[in-house]
Order: sequence, then structure tokens, then C-alpha cells
Amino acid sequence: MIMSSPSPDAPAPILAIESSCDDTACAILSPDGAILAETVLSQSGHIPFGGVVPEIAARAHLAALPDLVRRTLDAARLPAGALGAIAASTGPGLIGGLIVGAGVAKGLAVALGRPFVAVNHIEAHALTARLPGLVPGGAPFPYLLLLVSGGHCQCIAVEAVGHYRKLGGTIDDAAGEAFDKVAKMLGLGWPGGPAVEALAREGDPAPWPLPRPLHGRPGCDFSFSGLKTAVAQKLAPYAMEALPRPVAAGIAASFQDAVADIVADRVAHALDMMPGATLLVAAGGVAANGALRARLDALARARALPFAAPPLRLCTDNAVMVGWAAIETMRARRALGLPPADDLDLLPRPRWPLEQMAARFEAAGA
Ligand code: KG4
Ligand code: ZN
Repeated sequence: MIMSSPSPDAPAPILAIESSCDDTACAILSPDGAILAETVLSQSGHIPFGGVVPEIAARAHLAALPDLVRRTLDAARLPAGALGAIAASTGPGLIGGLIVGAGVAKGLAVALGRPFVAVNHIEAHALTARLPGLVPGGAPFPYLLLLVSGGHCQCIAVEAVGHYRKLGGTIDDAAGEAFDKVAKMLGLGWPGGPAVEALAREGDPAPWPLPRPLHGRPGCDFSFSGLKTAVAQKLAPYAMEALPRPVAAGIAASFQDAVADIVADRVAHALDMMPGATLLVAAGGVAANGALRARLDALARARALPFAAPPLRLCTDNAVMVGWAAIETMRARRALGLPPADDLDLLPRPRWPLEQMAARFEAAGA
């Protein structure tokens, strides 16, 4: 079969791959950001372990990705030859999964003769709000991003494509990690956030006061480890099997209130540190939490700022955000007269600080 192939620079859809943690995801976006297809597989092999096991994650990505790419192309009704570029998350994240995703993306890029674009996973979360149609009126720079997931908890000033300033981050656990650990203490399943939120709905927090580490302190760093320890102390008198439901629900409600208080306080400080912010954006799995969303919405309203949280499927790990970040990166590089794509010898990296992204927009030798 003869397939029409776009010239490498012609606007053509982009295929994106996400495999940095425990979600295997693919998406195809048109060059203007319209989502033509998206697929995601959440790995279940970690459930018995109560957390993500890197080796299991890497093997599951490898097993799932080739078929997922095929299914995504089918869903978009496109032959592989119609793709104009291939993108993948290449860091930060679990190195095994990153190697798998980047390897598949590079293999496709070579086989199809198309450019490969390496995407920073955190940058992808940061730019999601700019996907056309997501935020009414768009999401012009600069804006404040609160990223709260199982692996990340940070406030980022998003100033332009490639230009980010981390204003603060967690000094111990990520917010989602705290939810997951507290869920485990309460005998709930993994991931724990949704289970804690559901149980909290029927609980009275008043009898179970908990601390708010770093609340009111200068800056916008986060700490959840003292809160987690305080929950463990409240639970110490009870054997898990004999934990009365009203006690579990009350502690869940109190814990959730404490997290919402801490995060709202830290974000208020971050906004003080970024007086030019035009928008507050929340992303990451914990941004699904209703109590937290309500607090952030109230905080933004009090400052006359709009608040946006992408829909849940685009808040948690997904490949749409990877495709969109690749589109924004290619556009910004082209505008500077730089080659839009990356070298195939670019290696995935478990750490890739956002501050290093600006270097991709400097001409060689500049
Ligand atoms: O962004 P995400 O899907 O994956 C990464 O960690 O990258 O976030 C998952 C985290 C888990 O820790 C999960 O417990 C938490 O988000 N989470 C929630 C809620 N839904 C998911 N935490 C609090 N409330 C929720 N409704
Ligand atoms: Zn993520």
C-alpha cells in the first residue's frame, strides 16, 4: 500500500507517548492541538504492593505500548505514515519506563523518517492549561501552576514555553504520597486519594485536630511528613481490624482539611511571590480532590484571578499533555530559527529540572 507522507515540515499530526510512572498512554494531536485520539492504561500490577514498583512498571509499559500505539492510530483513523512527528516523555520519572517510551518513540521516528521530540513530563503538566479550548479565554503567560500528584508537589511560575521558575516544593512527601500513606493506615486500598476523599465525606473532623506543617511560614515549600506521623499517633490506640468507622472517617476528614489548608496557604504565598500571575492552575492527581479544588477556587476568587484545573483525565498522567508540550516546544524553537526536533541520541533522565529547559531555546554556542 502506498501511503501519502507529509514532508517533515508540513503540518501533520503528532503521536505522543507517556510512560514515566504507572500509566501507559498515547495520544495523537493535530498541529493546532485538537485531540484526534487518546488512550491510557493504568497498570494494576502495583495494587498488591500498595505503591508503584519501578520494575513492574517498566515491564508493563513494554508489554502494552506497541499495541497501544496501534490502537491509538486506529482510533484516529490514521496510518502511521500520516504522522508528522513522534514525542515522548523523557524525564523526570522512573528510568525503566522512560527508556521504554523514548525507545518506542525513537524507533517509530526512525522507521517513519520523522522528527523525534523529547518532552519534560513536568513541563507537559505545566503547559496543559494552554491546550486550546481548556481555559475560557486561553491561558496566557505568566501563570502559577500548583502541581500536586503522587510524585510531585511544587509551585511553578510558568513564564513562557521553556521558561519556568520553581517557587517551592515539598521537602519530604508529595501530597499524593501522603494521601496514599494515610489511606494505607486507614486500611483503604491504593491509590488512596479517592478512597480517603470518599470516607472523609461521612466524617466529623472536629474531634481529631491535626497539625499544619510550614503553614504561615515564608516561601511556598511543603511538608507532609509530620502530618502523616500525627495521623499515625491518632490511630495508635486502635487495631486496624477494630477501627470504628466514625473514627476512620473523622480522621480522614481532618487529614483532608489539613492538606487543603496547607496547600491553600502555600499557594497564597506562591501568588505573593509572583505578583504578575494572571491565572492559577492546578494539575496532578490530587487536584481531583473536591475539598482542595474548592479552597483553591476561593483563594483565586479572593485575588480576582481565574482558577483552572484541567479535567481529571488531563490532570493525571496522560499523553495529550506530552503531545501539546511537543507542539509548543516545536513552535517556539521554529520561531527562534532553531531546529524544532531533538537528536536521537538524547537520553531519558530520571531527573530533569525545569530550570534546564531554557537551554533548549538557546542557539548552539549562544
Ligand atoms: O498525577 P497522578 O495520577 O500520578 C502521579 O503521581 O504522577 O497522581 C496520583 C496521585 C495518587 O497519590 C492518588 O492517591 C492521588 O493522586 N489522588 C487523589 C485523588 N485522586 C487521586 N488525592 C486526593 N484526592 C483525590 N480525589
Ligand atoms: Zn505527572
